[in-house]
Amino acid sequence: MLILNAQSISKSFGATSLFRDISFTVDEGDRIGLIGPNGSGKSTLLKILADQLEPDSGEVAARKFTRLSYVSQDSEYASGDTVRSVIQEALKRTGVPESEWEARLRETLGRAGFDNFDTEAITFSGGWRKRLAIVEALVQRPDVLLLDEPTNHLDLAGIEWLEGVLASSSFACVVISHDRYFLENVATQMAELNRAYPGGLLRVSGNYSEFLEMKQEFLAAQSRRHSWNMISHRDAFADLNEKAEAALQSVGLLGKAYELASNLSHGEQRNLEIGIALATEPKLLCLDEPTAGMSQAETNETMELVRRIGKNLTILIVEHDMAVVMGLCDRITVLHYGAILAEGTPQEIQQNPKVLEVYLKT
Ligand SMILES: Nc1ncnc2c1ncn2[C@@H]1O[C@H](COP(=O)(O)OP(=O)(O)OP(=O)(O)O)[C@@H](O)[C@H]1O
Ligand SMILES: [Mg+2]
Repeated sequence: MLILNAQSISKSFGATSLFRDISFTVDEGDRIGLIGPNGSGKSTLLKILADQLEPDSGEVAARKFTRLSYVSQDSEYASGDTVRSVIQEALKRTGVPESEWEARLRETLGRAGFDNFDTEAITFSGGWRKRLAIVEALVQRPDVLLLDEPTNHLDLAGIEWLEGVLASSSFACVVISHDRYFLENVATQMAELNRAYPGGLLRVSGNYSEFLEMKQEFLAAQSRRHSWNMISHRDAFADLNEKAEAALQSVGLLGKAYELASNLSHGEQRNLEIGIALATEPKLLCLDEPTAGMSQAETNETMELVRRIGKNLTILIVEHDMAVVMGLCDRITVLHYGAILAEGTPQEIQQNPKVLEVYLKT
């Protein structure tokens, strides 16, 4: 039986359209995993379902007397909020009589692993703040629970606790997650928000691995309907789109995904080249004078970028700008007329007499 029904909803921010004319329904007992690339609009869609945000067009209707609980992607609390006050506030909002508060509080908090109800919420780690936010939603005894990446800050025990809660509850839920193991254990239906699909959304009844199979079949059937030329494009497109977006995100260019590359600033174009290289998931990235021709501000930005991506891979940089070399590299090789003049750490190189003579002194 239908409890939440979003029909033909569209949402844009400025010139960027996130989704258009998509429909999303939640039936009693559904446990829907919602996935999609970063920035595809998952959080936005969930906020629309939670009635926290208006769609630009389309309708969202909930069955009469439906109780909705929503846990946002970030769980922050004000100073002074204690475990007890947060939960009492939630019970009050839901109209639970005060005489029942203490029992409800003990029952739900106890099971979630909280023992001291007077602890201030801001003193908790991200994982415990998230647990509290989830309990805050649960005590309202929702008919539909909407969770935005609840496992992000949770440790393994926290994830298992949440899996148990969801598996043993009768309410419907929609949960955004990038965690495929969690989804495999929890979801009975899957939906992917992705511009690669003609309708913008693919919904499958089944768990995560069944979803992956259906997705392959869907894309294959989709491509068979097109000319030979289109087949290879279409088939590759969904995966490619996801990879491209991840690469653009890592170089800070996701917001410019649909700009003409030639309209990008010089520094952005250099970063785009780094993004293109990163998209191939290299173990080693070779950068030939990445800051050449850049303003100081752009140079600083690029150095920041290289530092960030360098956490996960080895980078070999050819560079003249000593400030860049010293700022980025932990091993330096100095070449002089085709021979290696010196090798070492930045400190060793700066003090090497040969390097000082032929390179640094001039
Ligand atoms: N209030 C806003 N004003 C302008 N742009 C926004 C606003 N909220 C979201 N966006 C943009 O809309 C896009 C989608 O955001 P959303 O948070 O829904 O993505 P998401 O799929 O949840 O991504 P993630 O996986 O990174 O959490 C992003 O590019 C974001 O910058
Ligand atoms: Mg999000």
